[in-house]
Amino acid sequence: MLIRISKNNFGKFNYITSVRCYSSQKAPTINLFGKEYPTDDWTNINKSIQDKLERNLIHQKYHPLNHLVNKIKHFFYKNYINRNGNPLFSVYDNFRPIVSVEENFDSLLTPKDHVSRSKKDCFYVNKDYLLRAHTTAHDNELIRSGLNCFLTFGDVYRRDEIDAKHYPIFHQCDGVRLFDKNELFRNAANEMDIFEKDPSNLKRTSEKQKNYTLDACKIVEYDLKNTLTNLVQFIFGTSSKINMKWVDATFPFTHPSWELEIEYKGNWYEVLGCGILEQEILTNAGAENHIAWAFGLGLERWAMILYDISDIRVFWSTDNGFLSQFKFDDPTHTKIIKYKPVSVYPPCPIDISFWLPEPSETFTYNSNDFYDLVRDVGGDLVEQVTLIDNFENKKTKKTSHCYRIVYRSMDKTLSLAEVNQLHKLIQTKAAEQLGVKIR
Ligand code: DAH
Repeated sequence: MLIRISKNNFGKFNYITSVRCYSSQKAPTINLFGKEYPTDDWTNINKSIQDKLERNLIHQKYHPLNHLVNKIKHFFYKNYINRNGNPLFSVYDNFRPIVSVEENFDSLLTPKDHVSRSKKDCFYVNKDYLLRAHTTAHDNELIRSGLNCFLTFGDVYRRDEIDAKHYPIFHQCDGVRLFDKNELFRNAANEMDIFEKDPSNLKRTSEKQKNYTLDACKIVEYDLKNTLTNLVQFIFGTSSKINMKWVDATFPFTHPSWELEIEYKGNWYEVLGCGILEQEILTNAGAENHIAWAFGLGLERWAMILYDISDIRVFWSTDNGFLSQFKFDDPTHTKIIKYKPVSVYPPCPIDISFWLPEPSETFTYNSNDFYDLVRDVGGDLVEQVTLIDNFENKKTKKTSHCYRIVYRSMDKTLSLAEVNQLHKLIQTKAAEQLGVKIR
């Protein structure tokens, strides 16, 4: 039931919602990805989250997160090849974010009373399902399906503080690599073992899990740290060596565990969590003869450092001023660009249409010439130019182009007079220099 309380300055009504009425009015089901899920006291997914579920940012071509995902995939595809010449790591980047409580927590040995399970921190569909709080939620299922090396990319959901660095939806990459005795020790496999035989060493220490040998743990630790420092160097350090620091950490699903900090432009950032997967997780997933490493990293965090993005909200922007800055192909996966904050001042789009000149010795029209001319005349006041219409008049055989020019200043609201003057100048110069006929 809605209670109207006052009329505000804008002539709209403010409403307050009675909590009691609200909970008794909760719809019996919630629709997610076209499927109805029963609701209960745990249900706490709001409309603004629901609306973003299918945005699929990591698959949006040229989105900065898509660039980063491609770089990470490329690193693993290039450096980890199996005996048949195929990539060692399989990639899963299309799993829906709805997981069971079992997958998100129990399968990863998260204690029943662990704070991370609370309704305050997670978005629950109902008491049995939630929007995954980490991509680690898929580890158990993928190991159970027989995979030894895999990467998972996806959107994750947490009810968190709201500021420039936190947003309720963000993206992660998790990686897992399992080893059996032969893979781990190779030529020394006859002499060495993953599992401890000496009863006096059957204990958990800061360096190893109870049932594993110290040798096995050390080799896995080395492989894990080596993989991750190479990844960081590849992504962040195209020309310089990145300083890194390993810090001891604790996670319910790994032991020992570490976080990696990197120095970038004078600041230290924590960029990932990782460790040796708890043996119990492998055993529960049917991989009891193995030892494994696992890591998880936040993609926004990496992209913010890499591209100099200071506000996490811009990843959700549909503003061309943001997206157009990342519109580049990067076949070598080494391109690093620096993001220029999108202006807070309003954009002012104006269209320009003209007939192209007939190709002649003096004028052979090419859109790039027009783009250069606009940039030349408009400078930084032009945010974007797009060809929005291109047609040929069948009778006269003349071609017409229409471009939308978005004017926007980084430091003030442009006046219409100012923009019109600039636009006129662009029209005149285009006619003069490119031989087009303004329509
Ligand atoms: N899932 C952890 C998080 O969201 C990150 C993480 C840490 C993942 C260690 C792992 C890992 O796979 O081994 O904070």
